[in-house]
Amino acid sequence: MDANEFRAVGHRLIDFLADYQATLEERPLFPKVEAAFLNALFDERVPQEGTDAHAVIRELDEKFFPYCSHVSHPGYMGLITPTPAPMGILGDLVASALNQNIGTYTIGPSGVAIERRVVRWLNDLVGYDERAGGNLTSGGTMASFIGLKLARDWASGDRAQHDGVTGQWAAYSSEERHVAVDKSADAVGIGRTGLRILPTDDRFRIRIDALESAIEQDRRRGIRPVCIIGIAGTTNTGAVDPLAELRRIADRERAWLHVDAAYGGGMLLSHQYPGILEGLALADSVVLDPHKWFFAPLDAGAVLVKDAARLTASFGMRPAYLTDEMDVRGERYQYCVHGFEQSRRLRGLKVWMSFKRYGVKQIGEWIDRNVDEARRLYELVAASDDFEAAVEPVMSAICIRYCGPQLDEPRLARLHREVARRIESGGRFWISTTVLKGRSYFRINPVNFRTRLEHMDELFTLLRRECAEVRHQLADRAVAR
Ligand SMILES: Cc1ncc(COP(=O)(O)O)c(C=O)c1O
Repeated sequence: MDANEFRAVGHRLIDFLADYQATLEERPLFPKVEAAFLNALFDERVPQEGTDAHAVIRELDEKFFPYCSHVSHPGYMGLITPTPAPMGILGDLVASALNQNIGTYTIGPSGVAIERRVVRWLNDLVGYDERAGGNLTSGGTMASFIGLKLARDWASGDRAQHDGVTGQWAAYSSEERHVAVDKSADAVGIGRTGLRILPTDDRFRIRIDALESAIEQDRRRGIRPVCIIGIAGTTNTGAVDPLAELRRIADRERAWLHVDAAYGGGMLLSHQYPGILEGLALADSVVLDPHKWFFAPLDAGAVLVKDAARLTASFGMRPAYLTDEMDVRGERYQYCVHGFEQSRRLRGLKVWMSFKRYGVKQIGEWIDRNVDEARRLYELVAASDDFEAAVEPVMSAICIRYCGPQLDEPRLARLHREVARRIESGGRFWISTTVLKGRSYFRINPVNFRTRLEHMDELFTLLRRECAEVRHQLADRAVAR
């Protein structure tokens, strides 16, 4: 592909993407297609001969674009994947084109500096001082893994990097944690059994009395509490655990405090709702995902660490083939020595370019609008007699359930699933379902600067209609039996 072909195809793609963004709302949000059809559509052997780029783009036109989920559509309010900010999209294009591999300084000097600046900005938002450090990661799951590994290594006096976990250890989190916490507990050797899952209060925050008694029980059995995992913005309802209380207990137990703000971290940019994440800077490590509510395109997660030296203690290996002979003054920052990954995409560029283009002002306004949208839905629900909310929203995540004529829990769960399916096939919205304290809910979560208040009104009208219809169908079926 020469420069002229690259230019022509690139212009065509950028034109397409600009038109795509301008006409998003006219498209069905989710494709009407079976997974088996798609597997068959792409079923071919590896091409032996290349074709020209325009033919490849034509194939995208036919096979890829029509069958995407349009997460940028204003009706997308589902699993947390944002509408990507256009400047971030361009940032990723540049990052791919320059292919800076910032694991090592020599493969991306300015990229390393940009990424370090982005990590510094995130640390400033959290409230960490100059000693802090961090890594941008593939997402919140990898960031959680790094956070728990830091906890494990610190708790072992830096023996676990060599010996693994040798004692009987436990970590603690709430029933509302993301599954990333379980996977991480497993990966660092604490194990899923060593992770104590604690109940939450009526606002879905960890119950401190339950945490205290779990720790006491463990102590009596000779098990050592090594890490408490707080959540600052649960996936279901945006609940924020009492972080100062968790810090107090962690200090007393000499345990690490890790806080998952992968979703809730966006609230650090809010203008209208400040202070929701009060106490976040008390954590030893924090997960905060720019590819969620900072509107960065995938992928860009982050693990931030109060004491950057802990990263080096956990990961600091320097094999001979990675020696940088030119670094005579020790000024070249080597991400591979201060983090888990070796080859690393320059994830920071899209975040840096977005902060430059939009500023905290604009991104914070988008976030506030999403919170207002969740609150609008909450008010509609509160004023209705056929729906109820799990709790008043703190952020943009809201869980609501149908409570029309009496249905037992299994049938209500079936109704919710069927309605979510109908909404998907209607093409105007995409929402998910979840379970809170054994009860089924719709989970609705705008992380989307294209969503407007009127979309919440439209969604609620649709939900009421669909729920009533499915309810009648279920009743008819029960009579027919
Ligand atoms: C609170 C929380 N933590 C962690 C994660 C996992 O993040 P990722 O999907 O980026 O791995 C999520 C994902 O939604 C989340 O909501």
